[in-house]
Amino acid sequence: MIDLTPDEFRRLGYLAVDLIAERMAAQPDLPVRQPVPADLRARLMSPPGGTTADPEALIRRVAEEILPYPMGNSSPRFMAWVNSPPAPLGILGDLLASAVNPSVAGGDHAATYVEHGVLHWIKSVFGYPADAGAILTSGGSVANLIPLAVMRHCKAADDMRKRGFNGEDFPMVIYTSTQGHSCIHKAAELLGFGSAYLRKIPVDSDQRMSLDALRDAVEDDRAAGLRPVCVAASAGTVNTGAVDPLRAIADLCAAYDMWFHVDGAYGGFGILAPSARAHYAGIERADSIAVDPHKWLYVPVECGCTLVRDAAAMRETFSLIPPYLRDDRALPWFSEFGIQQTRGFKALKLWLTLQQIGETGYSRLIENDIALAGLLQEKILASDDLELAAAGPLSVTCFRYRPDSEMEDGEIDALNRALLIRVQESGEAFVTGTELDGRAVIRACIVNFRTQEADLDRLLAAVRLAGEETLKADGNSRSRL
Ligand SMILES: Cc1ncc(COP(=O)(O)O)c(C=O)c1O
Repeated sequence: MIDLTPDEFRRLGYLAVDLIAERMAAQPDLPVRQPVPADLRARLMSPPGGTTADPEALIRRVAEEILPYPMGNSSPRFMAWVNSPPAPLGILGDLLASAVNPSVAGGDHAATYVEHGVLHWIKSVFGYPADAGAILTSGGSVANLIPLAVMRHCKAADDMRKRGFNGEDFPMVIYTSTQGHSCIHKAAELLGFGSAYLRKIPVDSDQRMSLDALRDAVEDDRAAGLRPVCVAASAGTVNTGAVDPLRAIADLCAAYDMWFHVDGAYGGFGILAPSARAHYAGIERADSIAVDPHKWLYVPVECGCTLVRDAAAMRETFSLIPPYLRDDRALPWFSEFGIQQTRGFKALKLWLTLQQIGETGYSRLIENDIALAGLLQEKILASDDLELAAAGPLSVTCFRYRPDSEMEDGEIDALNRALLIRVQESGEAFVTGTELDGRAVIRACIVNFRTQEADLDRLLAAVRLAGEETLKADGNSRSRL
């Protein structure tokens, strides 16, 4: 029997909530993450469904086998990739949204209006008009794919929906920086432009797209008979948090009649932090913007968002309802503005969290993450055995452990790659690495309302310890040769 009586549901629901609350209480002292034992891994991967089980036993199994082995992003010392802890009210929002379980394809029910409500707020954050097109998505990758599809539709010489690229005489070209996120590359391939027609423009010393190099590339392509159609700028690169020169790129796009897209999946909401706001000047001129509430607005995954200035163009790209059948006395359906028909009620978790803390609460939290990153950078600069590799205006810090200034770059690369694995396995902190100008660096990204200064100290201590252990292990293996 799949159904539960209301009393059974209540009892199991309280049990699940208690389990979550217990982990929240213990969180500061828990390891950030721990390896999944081999036998458990095998058990989890074996196909379920051969037997039936008691619902309470199943929830207790989740408590024993799943909750103790998280990715780690609820911890204050998780500073990897761009994954925030889930705002607790957002967790309840997901539960309540599942209980309503609507399809937010559109129509006259509460979930539709809640989504429009949060979208109106996001538009206002970026200086977009209230009648711009907008839709919540699964995440940043789809939030970038959708507007690039609109761009393709608008920039095509022929009818893209009918003839695809078969109607095009000249290849269209897209520009992003070498630091642009891989989802732009993926979108260029998926949408049929082809990666050979995605130019990765060099960056300046601050890892921002070089405007001169961009202009040269556009001119070269025009001279070669190609059609430059779009610049996909970054408002917060994943590697260093660099924000491209948006106003200058807006000017260049206007001059060359190109679509100006901004990938703000990581950094877009940094605009709410007073210290970072000036970097976003010009974003309000973008034709489209991708942002990710499930990153810097701390709502549980999945929740991305696309904004497209020209709502009619967005609808023309996706709608299968012919204009003569459209009835615009009611709000048009979201399914006419994107890829999905059945759509989850993603808006509720954001609607709740946003009202809980308000825009000013978000400003304060995001500013605090940026300030913590600044503090981490100060600590690194004040240390003889650490070197700062890059620090953008947002909340990413790239650094290296360099205990001996005489060590060669290649040795430092190997040391930092090896120590990173030790740090991750220690459970004390979780950071990831990246490459900058061919050098291996440790990358700490703070989008975490739980992180405090003491967590930064624990991260740096874990890095030093892992570095010392790596050097010792290397010395031992050398002396055995
Ligand atoms: C700058 C940037 N763009 C796009 C993405 C992709 O977003 P998602 O992982 O939500 O699909 C990310 C993810 O980290 C990102 O940092």
